[in-house]
Amino acid sequence: MTNPTILLTGATGYIASHTWLALQAAGFNVIGVDNFSNSSPEVLSRLERIGTLRPEFVQADVCDASALDAVFAGRRIAAVVHFAAHKAVGESTVRPLAYYANNLGSLLNVCQTMQRHCCKTLVFSSSATVYGKPERLPIREDAALATTSPYGATKLMGENILRDLEKADPTWAIGYLRYFNPVGAHESGLIGEDPRDTPNNLMPYVSQVAMGKRARLQIFGNDYDTPDGTGVRDYIHVLDLADGHVAALRYLLDGKGSITANLGRGRGHSVLELVRAFERASGCSVPFDIVSRRPGDIDACYADPTLARLALGWQGLRDLDAMCVDTWRWQRLNPNGMAG
Ligand code: UD1
Repeated sequence: MTNPTILLTGATGYIASHTWLALQAAGFNVIGVDNFSNSSPEVLSRLERIGTLRPEFVQADVCDASALDAVFAGRRIAAVVHFAAHKAVGESTVRPLAYYANNLGSLLNVCQTMQRHCCKTLVFSSSATVYGKPERLPIREDAALATTSPYGATKLMGENILRDLEKADPTWAIGYLRYFNPVGAHESGLIGEDPRDTPNNLMPYVSQVAMGKRARLQIFGNDYDTPDGTGVRDYIHVLDLADGHVAALRYLLDGKGSITANLGRGRGHSVLELVRAFERASGCSVPFDIVSRRPGDIDACYADPTLARLALGWQGLRDLDAMCVDTWRWQRLNPNGMAG
C-alpha cells in the first residue's frame, strides 16, 4: 500500500514547515503549496537539508481555482491541511476586507476544489482566538465562542463554514485545531518563525531584544488579574504542534469522524516568566519597560488539553525552557531570518 499524500497549503509558513517534517517522518507523502506572500523560498532548501527527501512543491495562490485544480489533477490526495491565511491581528483591523477575502476565499476555494476531486478530509488551522475573552479557565472546546478582531472572525467563520459543509455532506471528515500560542523552532536551527517586519508576538520580539536587534521589550500592562500582573498565555512548542497535526490526520484517515481540539499544553505562563526563561536560555538580558495595555488583550488564556490527549493521544511535551532554547538557537543562527 502506498503512503497517503497530504497537501499542505501555506506550506512554507511557520507552523506548516514544521508540520511538513513531522508528516514526512511519520511516513506520509507531502506536497506543499504557497505563494510566498509571507514566507521565503529558502524554506524549501532548509527542509531538504533537515529531512531526507526533496520537498515536492508548487508555487501557487490557493485563492486561484485553476492553479489549485492543477495541483489535484493526476495526484491522489488523501487529505489537506489548510494553513494558508493572513494572521496579523492588528493588520486585520486596518485591512478587514483583505482578511475576509483572503482567509475565507482561500478556504472556499480549497473546499470546492477538494469536493471536485472527491477528497473530503481536511485539517483546518483554527485558533484559540475563537474563544474571545474566555468566561472560564482552562478553556474547554465547548466554551462559548466570540471574536475580537477581523482575523479572529475569519477563523470562527471558517469553522462555521466547515460545520455547515459537514452537515450537508457527512462524508467530510474535518479536524478543527485550535492553536494556543505557538513558539519555538526546529532543533536544527534551520527553520523557525520568520517575521518580515517588526514582530507582533511576544516570543519573536523577546528574541530580537536578546539578540540586540531591538533595544527594549515593551510589556503591555502589569495590572492584569494574574499572579504577577502581566498577561498569561499557553505557549506551545511548534514541534509539538506539528505532531498534533500528524495525530489529527491519523484520526481522520482512520475514519473516526470529525474532531475539534485545543492544541495547547494547559499551562499558563506570564510575560515576565517568559522573559526570565528566555534570559536563562540565551544568557542575554532582555531589558523591558512596562507600558499601557494593548487594546484587545485579555488577562489569561490557557487550554484544557484533555480532549486532544484522550482522542488523539497527543500532548505538548516540551516546556517553556525548551521553547526558549530552540527559539534562541534559531535566532542566533539566523539573525536576519531566512533572508540573511
Ligand atoms: C495573538 C493573537 C492570536 C494569535 C496569536 C499567535 C490577539 C488577540 N491574539 O495572541 O489570535 O493566534 O497571537 O501567536 O492578538 N506582549 C507584550 N509585548 C509585546 C508582545 C506581546 O507584552 O511586544 C504580551 C501580550 O500583551 C500578551 C502576551 O505577550 O499578554 C502574548 O502576546 P502575543 O504573542 O501577541 O500573543 P496573543 O496576543 O496571546
